[in-house]
Amino acid sequence: MIIAVDGPTASGKGTIAKALAAHFGLPHLDTGLLYRAVGWQVQDKGGNPDNLQDAMAGCDFAGSLLDEDSLRSEQVGGLASRVSVHPAVRQALYERQRAFALQPGGAVLDGRDIGTVIAPEAVVKLYVTASVQERARRRWLELQGRGIETALAAIERDIAARDARDMGRADAPLHAASDALVIDTTHFSRDQAIEAAIEAVEERLRH
Ligand code: DC
Repeated sequence: MIIAVDGPTASGKGTIAKALAAHFGLPHLDTGLLYRAVGWQVQDKGGNPDNLQDAMAGCDFAGSLLDEDSLRSEQVGGLASRVSVHPAVRQALYERQRAFALQPGGAVLDGRDIGTVIAPEAVVKLYVTASVQERARRRWLELQGRGIETALAAIERDIAARDARDMGRADAPLHAASDALVIDTTHFSRDQAIEAAIEAVEERLRH
């Protein structure tokens, strides 16, 4: 059973994917981390993420010591979004994601193009979204919790720019697959979002 969870940044898709994996006893892959690892490598080598050669040089991160906490920063998220525009970068990361999806017992993958490109045959596809304002508020709270002071307006601007890039790119743009169930978490608590997702999966599996 493959469960595909797509959606924009700070929509709650990661939380939902992790909870679904635990609930259904499936392995989970956060595919954003792969793009983040490429972005981080490009930066580490002093490259430009918009440049194809530099971005491709960042794809070779096997064996590198990558620390998940530093990959999760806002800055690396922006770099990931920029390297992910290159079709050759997406191609370089395809097999790893595809192999994860095809594990015999099934898997949960979250990202931007899981239901549309990586695993179009997924039994369950969720598209998790929320308003830009609410996503910015969540990100702001999360940063506050980590002692990082940032203006809410700046976060909102960054999120809108990331959405525009991820949804506007020519190759594998972020959009809901035609057979995806849309979960809008704008007015949901964390637990309500998880509950809605589990119900959606169970409902899909009954039919
Ligand atoms: O989900 P995230 O914020 O960690 O992802 C970081 C960036 O990586 C995102 O802005 C676009 C890119 N990405 C992608 O293009 N395709 C995916 N399946 C996952 C992430």
